[in-house]
Amino acid sequence: MSSTEIPVQVKSFRFSPYEVSSTAPIELEPHLDVVEKLMSNGFNHLHVKENYIFPPNERPQMAEICRSYRIPIIDLKDLDGPARKSVVNEIKRACEQDGFFQIVNHGVPESLMKSMMDVAKEFFEMPLEDRACLYSENTKKSVRLYASFNITRDKFLNWMDVLTQLCHPLEEYIHAWPQKPAAYREIAGKYAKEIRVLTLRLLAAISEAMEQDSDYLNTIFKKHRQAMNINYYPPCPNPDLTFGVAPHSDATGITVLMQGLVSGLQVLRDGKWVAVEPTPNAFVVNLGDQLQVLSNGRFQSIEHRAITNNTTARISIPTFCGPSLDAFISPAESMVDEEHPALYRGYRFEEYMDAFWSQGLKSKTILDRFKIETGQ
Ligand code: OGA
Ligand code: NI
Repeated sequence: MSSTEIPVQVKSFRFSPYEVSSTAPIELEPHLDVVEKLMSNGFNHLHVKENYIFPPNERPQMAEICRSYRIPIIDLKDLDGPARKSVVNEIKRACEQDGFFQIVNHGVPESLMKSMMDVAKEFFEMPLEDRACLYSENTKKSVRLYASFNITRDKFLNWMDVLTQLCHPLEEYIHAWPQKPAAYREIAGKYAKEIRVLTLRLLAAISEAMEQDSDYLNTIFKKHRQAMNINYYPPCPNPDLTFGVAPHSDATGITVLMQGLVSGLQVLRDGKWVAVEPTPNAFVVNLGDQLQVLSNGRFQSIEHRAITNNTTARISIPTFCGPSLDAFISPAESMVDEEHPALYRGYRFEEYMDAFWSQGLKSKTILDRFKIETGQ
């Protein structure tokens, strides 16, 4: 569809008042380019435009997806009791072998998970102008709506829009979160707090799995950086050609994903893509690149992707929990010995993030920059 054919009904919309700070330039209407870029504009998803079509050898290859293997499901009900050690061991095994697991009995109320998913859906179903005012391509903004993964860098675009927002400490950021839907801040704020509690429990368990004190990762992460994304993937007329999100590993410490009931997530295991079918009320947890470095490569930050489907819109809500930008990341002493020499040099997390945003969504190439040359 050419731009002249676009049935644009959006008239004018301005950045909402909370966007206007003393440092931010005031951006003005009408942002027609924003309307065209968003996947949730009501027409982009009707036809697969050329820049969303991946080259034949990089496409999902749906026939080859492995459906027989299941990533582990770990029950957290005994995590804070006398059987803690055995739950920690299960987590350790999953971190070493899969880099991905699902959790049940995690303590986040099911009713809150449902309200969060409902309000996220409402956000992407409300009139475009109520959403488009949050659009920004500035990756340093603490709250923004964007299209694809990094529209200015991606060679092939991803079939998604993302609303991202920093969440911790909540009081510092919530005033900039979306004001519509009316219940958004209240529900998403409660959800972010619950996820924070869950993350701290998981980080303590993973610290123990690294043979460290429970507080190890919490301390390393300093102030922490918690970012919640809402990924919106509308139906796609030809899922064989596109990705909701193309293969990547996550930049953070750990990710806690609510994937709803529409499947789409796949993870790489032994060179094969494995589907992670939704388990009602479970979260999917995966380790990001920072945990791979901190564990000196013993725990894995695994590549994953989301495919599209041609019938149902899918919403997934990952919360990325990691170090604050000034935290120093390097392999933990307990994970380095003669048999396992340090694989990565230390760096400030900000250095990693600058590298992350300076490239488009690509497979695991960023960590290569931090590898120690062993000469082998
Ligand atoms: C992500 C991601 C997977 C999904 O946002 O980083 O991997 O299932 N999402 O949406
Ligand atoms: Ni991811």
